Amino acid sequence: MDRPGPQGRHPGWPARLGPLQVPAGLVAVRGPRLLDGSAWSKIRLRDREHLERWEPTAPGTWDDRNATLAWPGQWSSLRALARRGMTLPFVITVDGQLAGQVTVGNVIRGSLCSAWIGYWVASHVVGGGVAPAAVALVVDHCFMLAGLHRIEATVRPENTASLRVLEKLGFRQEGLFRRYLDVAGAWRDHLAFALTAEDVPDGLVYRLLADGRATIPQ
Ligand SMILES: CC(C)(COP(=O)(O)OP(=O)(O)OC[C@H]1O[C@@H](n2cnc3c(N)ncnc32)[C@H](O)[C@@H]1OP(=O)(O)O)[C@@H](O)C(=O)NCCC(=O)NCCS
Repeated sequence: MDRPGPQGRHPGWPARLGPLQVPAGLVAVRGPRLLDGSAWSKIRLRDREHLERWEPTAPGTWDDRNATLAWPGQWSSLRALARRGMTLPFVITVDGQLAGQVTVGNVIRGSLCSAWIGYWVASHVVGGGVAPAAVALVVDHCFMLAGLHRIEATVRPENTASLRVLEKLGFRQEGLFRRYLDVAGAWRDHLAFALTAEDVPDGLVYRLLADGRATIPQ
């Protein structure tokens, strides 16, 4: 069957999405900037305990990987992947200040049109509805403008906060991947979740609004 494809080499990127009002503040997402380095590093160095146990193992020390000086390399590799249409990288802002990241990665087109989504938020806004709002904005964008059909998320069974984010958004649990990813120094089981565009004809933002978890600011 013929289906119109998305336009350009990197459909859906760059983009600015939101804002949505949630208990923590006004949530928006935008592409990462070179000048985000010091705010990003300040949060990442302060929040090591909050973040490290859930993130993929990587070479080097936490302090080196998350120093302000590490940002230009990360920013430019995210931008290069985005320009090749392989990733849609976003930072999350709360009341205009950087407060996390949402990344859509491993974008595969053709007859899959699929990608994974990953996210983190700063410890000072956890529990304030930031991740659900940011993920909803980005997933709707992926389905409506970036030409994707399926978004997958994998979460360690112990990560109750992240499981709640996916539950609030209505992601479907599809399985358990044994020893899937090297996280915090060991191969960890992950629960696999997904949504396809048909699951959310009105979008995830609409779902959050209908559930009273977010409002659109006047
Ligand atoms: C998982 C994460 C993104 C959730 O973001 P968030 O913006 O806090 O999401 P929510 O506000 O919807 O809160 C989700 C759940 O976190 C838990 N939570 C609430 N306050 C919390 C706090 N102070 N500390 C820890 N968890 C808390 C609650 O279970 C909450 O669910 P509830 O709203 O039903 O009570 C965030 O905790 C985080 O960045 N964690 C570290 C990185 C990570 O795990 N990333 C995901 C990897 S799969």
